[in-house]
Amino acid sequence: MQTRDQTLSLQYITRELVAEPAACAAIKAEGERRRPGMQLSAYEGRVLQWLVQISTAKHILEVGTFMGYSTCWMAEALPEDGRITTLEYDASHAAQARTHLAHYPAVTVEEGDGLAWIKHYSGPAFDFMFIDAQKKSYMEYLDAALPHLCTGAWVVADNSLLFGNLAGEPDADRASASAKDVMAALNKRLTHGTEFNGLLLPTPEGMTVGIRI
Ligand SMILES: C[S@@+](CC[C@H](N)C(=O)[O-])C[C@H]1O[C@@H](n2cnc3c(N)ncnc32)[C@H](O)[C@@H]1O
Repeated sequence: MQTRDQTLSLQYITRELVAEPAACAAIKAEGERRRPGMQLSAYEGRVLQWLVQISTAKHILEVGTFMGYSTCWMAEALPEDGRITTLEYDASHAAQARTHLAHYPAVTVEEGDGLAWIKHYSGPAFDFMFIDAQKKSYMEYLDAALPHLCTGAWVVADNSLLFGNLAGEPDADRASASAKDVMAALNKRLTHGTEFNGLLLPTPEGMTVGIRI
């Protein structure tokens, strides 16, 4: 989700240094027509893709597909034997994403509540998880997925600055107290302690990355 303004520096980085794949750009345009601000920016898409690349991930779980824009960035970086399962609650979003992602056979779009899907999952472990769905549920997604994350798995949580709420930005007004508590705790969990080694990357929305110890 992209809601914070882009600085001139970020515009420069995006314009000069981010090569957005044409397939992803087409998805982004459709998503912006439907619901502006729901998708990653191109810069954030490239950050996510780069994290997939440097992690050498092969089995990715995404919570929050929307039109498939973030999925597209990851799919473009996937090795030949890689797979992505992406979870989308809304039936029309899921249907649209399936159409958009049809030429990535490694991607499966699962429709329904992502939390319930993860709780019933019994397949092979994931080595990368990207969370971009309901903000107050991030900790529950992680708790449910933890038994299915291998040692060394990367967990990436988008909007981890919670629209400026965690830093007390003057224009921050979108988050509930419960979402703030959840995100603050998640950031600590992914970056401190014995479960994960991580860092909050200061993208405009905040992207917290934790590597499972
Ligand atoms: C911010 S959008 C995702 C944007 C996408 N990651 C991108 O950058 O292109 C969040 C999506 O999560 C979905 N969602 C919300 N709660 C969910 C849940 N419990 N399980 C699965 N998807 C959920 C919403 O329907 C919405 O399409």
